[in-house]
Amino acid sequence: MHSRRALLYMPGDDRRKIEKATTLGVDCICMDLEDGTAFSRKAEARRVILQAMRELDFGRSERCIRINSIGSGFEQDDLAAALEARPDTIVVPKVETAEQVQWVSGQIESYELAHSLPLGGIRLLVGVETARGILNLKEIAAADKRLEAIIFGGEDFAASVGATRTPEATELLYARLAVVTACAAFDLQAIDIVTIDFRNPEIVRAEAEFGAKLGFAGKQVIHPAQVEPVQTAFTPSEEAIAYARRVVETFEAHQGEGKGAYELDGKMIDLPLLKNAQNVLARARAAGKLV
Ligand code: COA
Ligand code: MG
Repeated sequence: MHSRRALLYMPGDDRRKIEKATTLGVDCICMDLEDGTAFSRKAEARRVILQAMRELDFGRSERCIRINSIGSGFEQDDLAAALEARPDTIVVPKVETAEQVQWVSGQIESYELAHSLPLGGIRLLVGVETARGILNLKEIAAADKRLEAIIFGGEDFAASVGATRTPEATELLYARLAVVTACAAFDLQAIDIVTIDFRNPEIVRAEAEFGAKLGFAGKQVIHPAQVEPVQTAFTPSEEAIAYARRVVETFEAHQGEGKGAYELDGKMIDLPLLKNAQNVLARARAAGKLV
């Protein structure tokens, strides 16, 4: 699966920001037709994105286009324009039901068929960021093979339940963990909230480190200054990789001796600790740190 440590948004009508994004080495570039684009600029944004997709070299960054939510009235035109641009990935915000995921995936499949493209080649990510979406997570996560990740939108979720956002984000914890759990159960990546306080890299760094500890695979970002702190937070450190390797090696050796549990550096190691170590190595591999 594509590495999605940092998913950078920019308004779809802002060619300068799309160009800038291609120079940052960011995992995902998400050209936005939804809330980052003013209502009066949706048609212009569709045109700018199409042209940028034809003219720019995005390197190894995943080329994502976020359409407006289903029921907004923009979704049909957005999706048609987005598919014409041949992105790697379509992002759908504010998803609340499995049927919405299946509707988009069906539209994409029709496009792939009509243009002789490999079936399932265009990926799908969905935002779950409302109370209804959180309640329907299980069905949404299991809805369609094309789906690779669920993105949790903290600001939208707070607005949906009437919560007040705080720097600690305690009011989001239940929903964040629900997203992580649903993603783990269905082999999807979980992508964490935006840090809107973008002028201070230490705030986004701390929030990203916490998100990584919760089990998220990556985080949404809105400014170039957030890319490095977030990519670093979602990449295991050399130390963590070395320790994970020791756990894997010593676990195998102890299994060979008929021992399921043993001591390493004063701590008990058994099967769940091995799985944790394997997760660390999988993340390191996804980030290109291990071959
Ligand atoms: N993607 C790519 N480049 C960006 C960027 C982004 N999200 N945000 C800023 N930049 C660029 C600017 O164009 C500028 O480049 P330049 O020096 O070549 O002109 C540079 O980074 C520095 O930007 P800065 O002046 O610090 O910020 P700004 O005032 O231009 O923009 C925001 C601030 C918040 C308006 C802008 O970061 C933004 O639009 N973010 C994304 C918003 C969005 O898409 N929201 C919806 C999803 S949550
Ligand atoms: Mg939003």
